[in-house]
Amino acid sequence: RRTFTVLGFESSADDTCAAVVTSSRQILSNVVVKQHDLHEGFGGIHPSVAIEAHQRNMPGAVRMALEQAHISIHEVDGIAFTRGPGIGGCLSVGSNAAKSLAAALGKPLVGVHHMQAHALTPLLTTAAADLPQFPFLTLLISGGHTLLLLASSLTSFQILATTADTSIGRAFDKVARALGLSWGTRGPGAALEELCRLTNDELESLPDIQPFTVPMPGKLAFSFASLQSSVDRYISLVEEPLPSSHKIALARAFQTAAARQLCAKLTLSLHKLELKGVNVRDVVVSGGVASNIFLREKLRAALDEYSSDERISLHFPPLELCTDNAAMIAWASMHRFVAGDYDDYTVDLRAKWSI
Ligand code: KG4
Ligand code: ZN
Repeated sequence: RRTFTVLGFESSADDTCAAVVTSSRQILSNVVVKQHDLHEGFGGIHPSVAIEAHQRNMPGAVRMALEQAHISIHEVDGIAFTRGPGIGGCLSVGSNAAKSLAAALGKPLVGVHHMQAHALTPLLTTAAADLPQFPFLTLLISGGHTLLLLASSLTSFQILATTADTSIGRAFDKVARALGLSWGTRGPGAALEELCRLTNDELESLPDIQPFTVPMPGKLAFSFASLQSSVDRYISLVEEPLPSSHKIALARAFQTAAARQLCAKLTLSLHKLELKGVNVRDVVVSGGVASNIFLREKLRAALDEYSSDERISLHFPPLELCTDNAAMIAWASMHRFVAGDYDDYTVDLRAKWSI
């Protein structure tokens, strides 16, 4: 069968993305235009600001995606876009671009589920010899998601756990803000990770902080709100301004508790699946928070301990494909294009869409 080439669009939150991917797992281009600076002052994504920025940035992103892929639009075989879930007005920018282009060119169109695209990313990014086998687990940890997904095939996914309150990324952001860390170019989460990195000598001068507990230990559901308020409470009890040794100790206590929670829920889910006779051999961790080296090390250690005979492999896709991108959207549409299973040009958006 000849290679199928897809142009993908993604604009469900605050990244404007266009990418070209082929059915032979080649990423010909992957353009992501970020909006961090526009939303920093709001402390989160401001919908109408995001919509306007998508409208401004999408034409340039598409152009660049084609240029970097060194192809003309006429060499594209199909057009994919994020159908949901996401912010309605944001989704409509990518969707309108994709639909109009597909209709004008007479090319087939496929609308993609954003979470499914995240879950299927490892099938695009992992070396052929090392591909995750179904069923595999995806732990998606970002500002937008805190999800544990079981992928059983290209089309069947189950949400095993989500957060009961705020996402892990937002919790990192809020704690970084409460500690007065500047975002820098790497963002608040990375700034917090940086603050935690110390030599053994420096460690000795830190105040002792009672470790924060893992919420709902018997349950799979995540929760970061109580951890966040424990940090706030600690700050309110210490004299102002917070001495830097307290800041560091607090950041470390928070990061350690966040890691312990991820490890606990992940191994609990593996245990529960095993009891049900579901044999998982691969775990994929992605999302912006997955760039945290401390979390990665703790997750690896927890899995090693859980499966001492190394039955379970842990994968971290490259970061630019862990965070929101259109390459994953194009890739997730591929099996439908190849099967001739297209959407109509009138296909609707689904701002809320269960998996
Ligand atoms: O996936 P992402 O880029 O965007 C979405 O939220 O969709 O994730 C961004 C989140 C932010 O909350 C950011 O602070 C967090 O990921 N993050 C980190 C690190 N790098 C980014 N959190 C902890 N440690 C890091 N090194
Ligand atoms: Zn996402």
